[in-house]
Amino acid sequence: MDLPKKVVWITGASSGIGEALAYEFNKKGAKVILSARRIEELQRVKDNCENSEEMVKIIPLDLSESESFPDKVEEAKAQFGSIDMLINNGGMSQRAFAVNSTMESIRRLMEVNFFGTVGLTKELLPTFIEQKSGHIVVISSVMGKLGTRYRSAYAAAKHALHGWFDCLRQEVYEYDIDVTLVCPGFIQTHISENALTADGSKYNKVDDAMEKGMPPKEFVRKLLPKLAKKKMEVYIGGREILAIYVRRLSLRLLNKILRRVNVT
Ligand SMILES: NC(=O)c1ccc[n+]([C@@H]2O[C@H](COP(=O)([O-])OP(=O)(O)OC[C@H]3O[C@@H](n4cnc5c(N)ncnc54)[C@H](OP(=O)(O)O)[C@@H]3O)[C@@H](O)[C@H]2O)c1
Repeated sequence: MDLPKKVVWITGASSGIGEALAYEFNKKGAKVILSARRIEELQRVKDNCENSEEMVKIIPLDLSESESFPDKVEEAKAQFGSIDMLINNGGMSQRAFAVNSTMESIRRLMEVNFFGTVGLTKELLPTFIEQKSGHIVVISSVMGKLGTRYRSAYAAAKHALHGWFDCLRQEVYEYDIDVTLVCPGFIQTHISENALTADGSKYNKVDDAMEKGMPPKEFVRKLLPKLAKKKMEVYIGGREILAIYVRRLSLRLLNKILRRVNVT
């Protein structure tokens, strides 16, 4: 991957995986555009980058406000004159049983994680088609390949992303546009604190599984070579990744195991 010439737009860049992606791409000489809702956090990430005035730009963005996407895409294109890679990373998780979850909280998870990701991608897509190049990366989850307790709407949104982007990959093949779906396992970020509970309020707890997860820096270091190879689907994490393969073998066996293991 010819990184120094690349322009990479990262959503969810104010924290966790997105923040680590920003540092790694910046270190490798790429130009980066950082998006998320919290401007002061985006500024902090920018300030931690090398040569930040020239190489890093900020575009505040709320993934649940799709009406803003046309302007945001124009703004992003104007920053460095073009965009080579969109990393759809922004999102939030869930810690609630399906039976208790309000429809509002379920819709909110779909709005941000699915419609936000699809909407932004769709808005940038004509540009990639016209330039006959582009790489669309989606940070999905192991929950995009299977389901566990407490994650019904989150898993639904991530599964939906796989459906949508698997179809898109075939539609844009002739324009040299690549689509990579990334499935992280447990990564040490703020994802559990920001997760939605049954009534849509924040969970505000650091899960044990997250605490013991892979540091985001290590995750990103493992991810970049896979992106350079333009892999279609990538799994990175600890033992939890095995669940994807167990599911292929026996859904019954996976259910038996997952009913017992701690997923918080
Ligand atoms: N950590 C894990 O174990 C794990 C595992 C599998 C998948 N993932 C996926 O990895 C991605 C990044 O999560 P993370 O683990 O880095 O968690 P995080 O530390 O909570 O970061 C989430 C990021 O998404 C942004 N975001 C949330 N809601 C948004 C909205 N409405 N509009 C725009 N941006 C929004 C947040 O920024 P603002 O609050 O500033 O908007 C933040 O930058 C997510 O898609 C998540 O599903 C994480």
